[in-house]
Amino acid sequence: MLLITGGLGYIGSHFTVVALQAGYEVVVLDNLSNSHAGVKDKVEQITQKKLHFIEGDIRDEGLLDGIFKRYAIEVVVHFAGLKAVAESVAQPILYYDNNVSGSLNLLKAMQNNKVNKIIFSSSATVYGEPKYLPYDEQHPTNPINPYGYTKLHVEHVLHDVCASDEAFAAITLRYFNPIGAHPSGLIGENPKDIPNNLMPYLIKVANTELPYLQVFGDDYDTRDGTGERDYINVMDLVEGHLAAIEYLANTGFHVFNLGTGKGTTVLELVSAFEAANDIVIEKKIKPRREGDLAKFWAKADLAKKELNWEAKTSLLESCQLVQQL
Ligand code: NAD
Ligand code: WQD
Repeated sequence: MLLITGGLGYIGSHFTVVALQAGYEVVVLDNLSNSHAGVKDKVEQITQKKLHFIEGDIRDEGLLDGIFKRYAIEVVVHFAGLKAVAESVAQPILYYDNNVSGSLNLLKAMQNNKVNKIIFSSSATVYGEPKYLPYDEQHPTNPINPYGYTKLHVEHVLHDVCASDEAFAAITLRYFNPIGAHPSGLIGENPKDIPNNLMPYLIKVANTELPYLQVFGDDYDTRDGTGERDYINVMDLVEGHLAAIEYLANTGFHVFNLGTGKGTTVLELVSAFEAANDIVIEKKIKPRREGDLAKFWAKADLAKKELNWEAKTSLLESCQLVQQL
């Protein structure tokens, strides 16, 4: 049985779908700080399977202990976290508390209940200013914002826990830029506030909820001057987690990039989105966004070799608007 923290969020809900479809029994813990209770019904509708949902916080020790006592959890898949970079700069204590203290609390409850397998959602943001590209897993880590530091701190904790306990297995997955939605359109990325990230913002412009896309900078050292990223389809991303669960048979601490290995600029993504949906996106060039890196993408060979996983979905498919949210 899996405990999925943050399992009603964007990536967590897609993972919950594939985990149920793969035959796992699932307990989801989510405090709904950035998701909606209705996602549970959508996941059940897609899979025609039931999941156990607990509304609550990973910082609640008693609650976590109770979950481990009540359910026979074997693996924790830990998505719960706050992820808005600018908010982390404005409210670092909130981010360290939620992401770092929350993860420590989860690990304590795991240890107390003899659960020793975890998959952790980390981020390419831990690498910071590229020393070389593509980033491989050996690239130095040097986050440029508090959010990135929260991810790196948890990685270090997991590394040290594995060093202290030879039966422990921890896999850190460093995601690049997840986009897209389940083909049913029933779940997807549906942030509670105005989106920070490019793809959800584009979707809101396409739905006429927002008037135009602001392109943050066109004077970077890239093909067309706009920022370049590695956009990975969310269904591919969550398949990588299923492969990682199998890999937990290998004890110790493991790190894998989950990306496509290809860079796409903002203007290239907009063009793909326009072509995929036969629409025109209004856009205005704006100044660079503070804290943005010009370009980065993944070397994804290690996941291919060790997890036998690679991203398969084309950019055009990932851009196809299926969301009915
Ligand atoms: P999301 O906000 O959609 O999902 C996170 C979920 O965790 C939400 O449902 C939220 O309500 C829940 N949550 C947050 N704090 C909690 C707490 N203290 N207790 C219980 N539940 C809590 O975000 P997402 O895009 O699905 O990201 C999932 C994970 O992947 C996060 O850890 C994020 O940092 C990481 N990540 C995301 C991206 C990305 O671009 N989406 C990239 C790299 C890493
Ligand atoms: C992509 C590109 C922007 C919005 C962030 C976090 C990272 C990870 C993913 C969690 C950049 C440009 C964006 C817009 C734009 N999250 N852009 N107009 O910045 O690569 O990564 O989210 O771990 O940690 O830092 O993603 O989607 O915000 O931006 O022009 O309205 O799109 O400048 O070049 P980013 P993003």
